[in-house]
Amino acid sequence: MSGHELAARHPGIEHAGRATQAGALPAISRQEVALVWIRMAVAYLAVGVALGLYMGAQGDHSLRSVHAHLNVFGWVSLALMGLIYGQYPEIARNRLAQAHFWLQNLGLATMMLALAFKLSGHPQAEPVLGVGSVMAALGAGLFAANVFRAGRA
Ligand code: HEM
Ligand code: HEM
Repeated sequence: MSGHELAARHPGIEHAGRATQAGALPAISRQEVALVWIRMAVAYLAVGVALGLYMGAQGDHSLRSVHAHLNVFGWVSLALMGLIYGQYPEIARNRLAQAHFWLQNLGLATMMLALAFKLSGHPQAEPVLGVGSVMAALGAGLFAANVFRAGRA
């Protein structure tokens, strides 16, 4: 949905058309940014809960760590990041936020797939797990840096 459609459907919604600050990107509202993050978080929740049910049903908890990170990192942390971006428009649309989005999601998805392979008896997945973990950690670092810009940017 475009920013204009969103604004039309929800009168009074804050809409960004401003690209005057250094590094700011135009034409996407903070509500849209928040919704993208929350939708990603819900996708992790769906996979995490499905995996939890599968683990319980099989009586095989070897993927516990994948389940735990999908739910607590993927669902809880990403939803929180989305809500925080929704609250602080000045950091929701800058280049740091964009880089954060891609590093966080590509990193976490890579980390989860590689961890699942590793825990299923494929130690060859470890280098990929390392790359995914570092990407996800860097993403979190960019988020932290961006949050410290709030109020000053
Ligand atoms: C219907 C949904 C769920 C099912 C069936 C389920 C099932 C499980 C199972 C079977 C384990 C392994 C327990 C063990 O080996 O000791 C586990 C661990 C875990 N689950 Fe879930 N889970 C569900 C939802 C969630 C949600 C929504 C979250 C977080 C928001 C979550 C967070 C965790 C964590 C952090 C662990 C690891 C705990 C530890 O390492 O001691 N789970 N879950
Ligand atoms: C790139 C970032 C991260 C890395 C590389 C990482 C790595 C790890 C490792 C190596 C373990 C021990 C797993 C085991 O003993 O089998 C672990 C456990 C755990 N981590 Fe993380 N973690 C990261 C981020 C997070 C975040 C952001 C959260 C929560 C918001 C989190 C929640 C947990 C929980 C609940 C456990 C215990 C459950 C389990 O895995 O069995 N982690 N993590």
